[in-house]
This record gives sequence, structure tokens and C-alpha cells, in this order.
Amino acid sequence: MNQRKTLRQKIRTLRRSLTPRQQQQAADRLLANIRNRADFRRAKNIAMYLPNDGEINPEPLIQLCWTLGKHVYLPVLHPVLHNRLWFVPYTPKTKMIKNIYGIQEPTLIPHQRRTAWSLDLVLLPLVAFDERGNRMGMGGGYYDRTFSFKALRKGLTGPKLIGLAHEIQKVGELPIENWDIPLTSIITDTKSYL
Ligand SMILES: Nc1ncnc2c1ncn2[C@@H]1O[C@H](COP(=O)(O)OP(=O)(O)OP(=O)(O)O)[C@@H](O)[C@H]1O
Ligand SMILES: [Mg+2]
Repeated sequence: MNQRKTLRQKIRTLRRSLTPRQQQQAADRLLANIRNRADFRRAKNIAMYLPNDGEINPEPLIQLCWTLGKHVYLPVLHPVLHNRLWFVPYTPKTKMIKNIYGIQEPTLIPHQRRTAWSLDLVLLPLVAFDERGNRMGMGGGYYDRTFSFKALRKGLTGPKLIGLAHEIQKVGELPIENWDIPLTSIITDTKSYL
């Protein structure tokens, strides 16, 4: 557990030290690496996130989705169930509010939410990844809990989970726990994995 904590801190510091220019360049390259993929082009309902703590910025992708008429969703903290995410529509008109972590999220309109399993594609942030698709997040277990249903049928059900990251967030092999949900693929500013 301590090993996980140390690694998390190290990579978060590395990620935060990228300059605005490096972040912009990474965001542009990420867009180029995703836009022609078959899974992205096919997907109609796509969950993404707003960048925080040096995460690679998917906002150019969000803009592209709006232009293409795809539906974009952002995660919001579940109002009652501890450590679970809901996904709600995000458009240029969406009203935003800060959650308990100080991160902007759409104001929750419960009937608009989309269940996790009915999304086509989830582009999710991460702290560290390895080439086998293992993922380490910020340590809340939010994505792991929300997509735990995928473990039951070994990824045969529900959306593809694609981790987005800076190439510098790659590690040799991640220490993984039995609740960690693996990624379908990982896309960085320079490469795609799996
Ligand atoms: N399906 C689950 N059911 C119950 N507890 C869980 C589940 N998944 C994760 N947890 C708990 O959540 C805590 C954090 O998990 P972990 O360290 O893997 O977070 P993470 O993957 O970095 O976070 P996130 O998914 O939010 O990005 C762990 O202590 C674990 O016990
Ligand atoms: Mg985890």
C-alpha cells in the first residue's frame, strides 16, 4: 500500500511540473492520436473529464465531439452512494459547480444521468499505467467501484475504458490489487497501448 502511495506522489509531482506549453502540445497530440480510431468514431455517448492536477487535457476532444454531434458526459460524485460516479451530459451551456475536491462538475440533474454501463466509451484520467493496461488513479477507488461490474464478465460487457495520460506516467509494472479494473487501452501524447 505504501509503495502505491509513494509512486502516486512521485508521478503526480512529475505531471504537475509540465509547462503550459508542454500541456498544450500534449493535448494537441492526444487529439491527433484519438480522432481517427474506430472505437472513437463509432462511439456516440462518451464520458470524459476536465483536467486537474496536471492531467492530460481532453478539452480539444470534447470540442470535436460537440462538433460531430456526439454526446459528452462528465463524472459527478454520486450524491448518496459513497465513492461512486454518475455521468451527466456536458454541453457548452452546462452550469458547473465545485465538488468537495474543488473540481468543477456539472450541476446534477438526476433524470439526465446516464448509467455507467450504457456509455459507449469512457476516456478516463489516471496517475500511472503500465503496458498491460493496469491503472493507478488518485486513490479514491471511484472508477474502480463504478466499473466493478466489468470484472464479473471479464470486460465482455459495458463501455471500453481508455486511459488518457502523458507518456511520462508510464511505469514498468504496477502493483495491482484485486479491486483494480484494467483498462481496454491507453492513449498518450506519443503512443497507444493495447
Ligand atoms: N469495487 C470495490 N468495492 C469496494 N471497495 C473498493 C472497490 N474498488 C476499490 N475499492 C477501495 O477503494 C480504495 C482506493 O482504491 P485504489 O487505490 O485502487 O484507487 P484508484 O484506482 O487509485 O482510484 P480511482 O478509481 O478513483 O482512480 C481501496 O482502499 C479499495 O479498498
Ligand atoms: Mg484502483
